[in-house]
Amino acid sequence: MHAFHDRPNPAGFEFWCEDLPLSRIADEVGTPAYVYSTATLAHHYQSFVQAFAPREVSVAYAVKANGSLAVLATLARLGAGADTVSEGEIRRALAAGVPASRIVFSGVGKTDAELAFALNAGVREINIESEPELHRLAAIAAAKGRRPTVALRINPDVGAGGHAKITTGSDDNKFGISSAETLRLYAEACSHPQFDVAGLACHIGSQITDLAPLRTAFAAMADLVARIRAEGLPVRRLDLGGGLGVAYGDGPEPPSPADYARVVLETVGGLGVELAFEPGRLIAANAGVLLARVIQVHARPGGRRFLVLDAAMNDLLRPALYDAHHAIRPLHRRLEGAPERLYDVVGPVCETGDTFARARLLPELAAGDLVALLTAGAYGASMSSEYNSRPLVPEVLVRGAEYAVTRPRPSYEEMLGRERMAPWLGRS
Ligand code: LLP
Repeated sequence: MHAFHDRPNPAGFEFWCEDLPLSRIADEVGTPAYVYSTATLAHHYQSFVQAFAPREVSVAYAVKANGSLAVLATLARLGAGADTVSEGEIRRALAAGVPASRIVFSGVGKTDAELAFALNAGVREINIESEPELHRLAAIAAAKGRRPTVALRINPDVGAGGHAKITTGSDDNKFGISSAETLRLYAEACSHPQFDVAGLACHIGSQITDLAPLRTAFAAMADLVARIRAEGLPVRRLDLGGGLGVAYGDGPEPPSPADYARVVLETVGGLGVELAFEPGRLIAANAGVLLARVIQVHARPGGRRFLVLDAAMNDLLRPALYDAHHAIRPLHRRLEGAPERLYDVVGPVCETGDTFARARLLPELAAGDLVALLTAGAYGASMSSEYNSRPLVPEVLVRGAEYAVTRPRPSYEEMLGRERMAPWLGRS
């Protein structure tokens, strides 16, 4: 479900977000710009939680998917926690009103300073990803006189995820403690007076559209819980990560949260543990679109047509980085139906990789027309940059018929003003 839809107008149809025509936002805020729907964010968070009902679960939304303070605050008000992977993300979550008691700190390379920050903040859980990290955290906690709640992040050696760059759960990935080492390190963690050991965590990949690898991983986690308990050690919490995929319009339909919940409950539901999750994409992806305007249509004699947008790979990196598919649609459609054309949809950045789609069939478009790149709410703005000295893309949050610019587009003066000249270069 998402709240982006067509509404009829005298000339045909227009694409809206909730009760606002997207063209109004494009005209007032300019393009490129991300637009998020409050109703869609809320729907996805709530349907994930409800999929487990009547069982209560805790959901720490993965901030990396979309760290907009307004998005985080929207979710925090619904009861969501935050899964964070850096001090910056912890600070973001706190700034958006997520209580520390609902913040989980994960990540494969947490620095001493970041661990100390998390201890001071009093986060709910630190997921320890390796033996050296366990030792560093024990030392830092002892020095500070803190007793953090920790879990061990396990790598269950199950490959999953749509793209090699986003699988995390197989043995040759950098993430997590291997199953073979779990018992030894769990016992060691329990022996540290500095640690309140809650249990285990795992996250095997992202954009997972098949439940089979998840079932295998969760069953492996259940097996580890049984083995740990057989040693007389307690396990009270399992964090099963995120990873459930969404429909981008090119691949298989992903399983529903209800199907996913069934697999969770079948594999680990009987263990008598608290269940925690870290979904990101599932909540934010189709709650956001990237608005862009056609700069020009550049046709080659051979017949290739390039639709040059004012959005580029620095605004939405996923197609360049993962060959990801994002559906593209014009904001206005004529009633009688415009002729369709095949376009290579590209941005203005000076790389061939700055291509959103190859040979995409779209209604005929002209310079000045507006389009939306769909399912761009997760890993869109959060991965954006100023490459090619393009000011950071703005973000807008819609609620009903109102909208707020939650990250304004920086002016060129602001963009350049962040830098300092080296003293020996003088002031030019
Ligand atoms: N927890 C951990 C420990 C993670 O590493 C991730 C994502 C999540 C939760 C959230 O996973 P999700 O529910 O969103 O699948 N930039 C890539 C995706 C990278 C995912 C990294 N880890 C993309 O645009 O597809």
